[in-house]
Amino acid sequence: MVKFVSIAKFDELESGKGKIIKLNGKEIALFKVSDKIFAIDNECKHQGGPLGEGICNEGIVTCPWHQWRYDLKTGLCPENPQIKVKTYEVSVDGNDINIDI
Ligand code: FES
Repeated sequence: MVKFVSIAKFDELESGKGKIIKLNGKEIALFKVSDKIFAIDNECKHQGGPLGEGICNEGIVTCPWHQWRYDLKTGLCPENPQIKVKTYEVSVDGNDINIDI
C-alpha cells in the first residue's frame, strides 16, 4: 500500500544540491534536478558515505568519500549495475514534498 509522508518543502531545496532528512530512524537524501525531486537512501553502498552531501550533475550523484556514483532515477551505479541504493517514489503537492514510505 502506498503511503506518502510530507518530508520537506520544495522551495527549501537548491537545484543540484542535496538535502538530508531523517525519517523513522533512516536518512534519506533529496535532490532537485530541473524542478523534479528525487529521493534515495543517504547511505552509500561502499562504506556508508553521505550521498546527500555529494555533488549532483545531470541526474547522477557522486559520493563525497570515494566518488562512487548513483543514478537518482534508478539508484543504480552506472559503473556497476549490481550496486544500487534504494529510491523512493516522490510526489509534490504545492510546496510539499511527499515520499512513499
Ligand atoms: S563511501 Fe561512498 S564511495 Fe566510498
